[in-house]
Amino acid sequence: MVDANEARRLVILGTGGTIAGRATAASDNVGYVAGQVAVADLVAAVPALAGVSCEVEQVAQVDSKDMGLPVWQALVRRLAHHLEDPAVAAVVITHGTDTLEETAFLLQQLLQPRKPVVLTCAMRPASALTPDGPQNLSDAVAVAREPGAGGVMVVCAGQVHTATDVSKVHTYRTDAFDSGDAGPVACVEEGRVRRFRPWPADVRATGGDHDAGALARFLAADALPRVELLISHADAGGAMVQALLAQGETDPVQAVRGIVVAGTGNGTVHQALAEALDVAQARGVPVLLTSRCARGHVVPHPGLAFVAADDLSPVKARLGLALALLAD
Ligand code: SIN
Repeated sequence: MVDANEARRLVILGTGGTIAGRATAASDNVGYVAGQVAVADLVAAVPALAGVSCEVEQVAQVDSKDMGLPVWQALVRRLAHHLEDPAVAAVVITHGTDTLEETAFLLQQLLQPRKPVVLTCAMRPASALTPDGPQNLSDAVAVAREPGAGGVMVVCAGQVHTATDVSKVHTYRTDAFDSGDAGPVACVEEGRVRRFRPWPADVRATGGDHDAGALARFLAADALPRVELLISHADAGGAMVQALLAQGETDPVQAVRGIVVAGTGNGTVHQALAEALDVAQARGVPVLLTSRCARGHVVPHPGLAFVAADDLSPVKARLGLALALLAD
């Protein structure tokens, strides 16, 4: 039997990012090195967390531009371990902003947690004159402790986003994330959470019920199936696709297994690129269609060049296809 206080235990996992970054001058918000400050020190720097019972663990210490399979596997292992513990109520993860939406999507896809898993970040390094990390971390803990909250979420600049909807949309501003047409799921004001729509775990009929086979395949993989992301643009051509197909003929290990194309507007693709992608599909390489537009999704219609990737952004569609191909 888990005692009521124990069941409120919070775990905070650190993976690096700007939130753990350090610059030589406090006035420098861009010339820093990410992933320098231990997550235990980030937590200790937030006075509001002083009374919160939490376990802190450094899973990685990376600039998230370099995120890849080994760190993802380590993170998924530790997260799954903590989520299975009945004494753990929620997990907060500190992460770089640059690929945060991909990690959030990966965790939601693989674990579909019923408990809250809250990723947070910062746009200014820990050494900044006014760092945004401490407030974001404090807000993330508020969401993690919110009764009824569940699923993978991202907290930044007082807004709470779902893993499915969130994208980084600004290079510099502290409110760098947006949920597109869906909008944020909640906001945090003075430590209080104000919810606008159901938590992600309540939306998914399968909340808390992940595919154990898919998780095991991901954890055992030496590499993810190679899925490339191409963008359609004025004056585009098919040379990149042709080069990928040619490489696969001489080096089967490196063969491209899938292609996601970020089309123009409502998923249109330059004729020259579309012809090359048709050849790829004919050779058994699936092609998924997304839009390079920051807002909206590819509205289905019979004339679409390729199968549309639901409402997913190009980077999430790429990851989703790689995960799906792991099953082949
Ligand atoms: C990173 O993504 O690790 C660096 C950039 C950031 O966190 O804002």
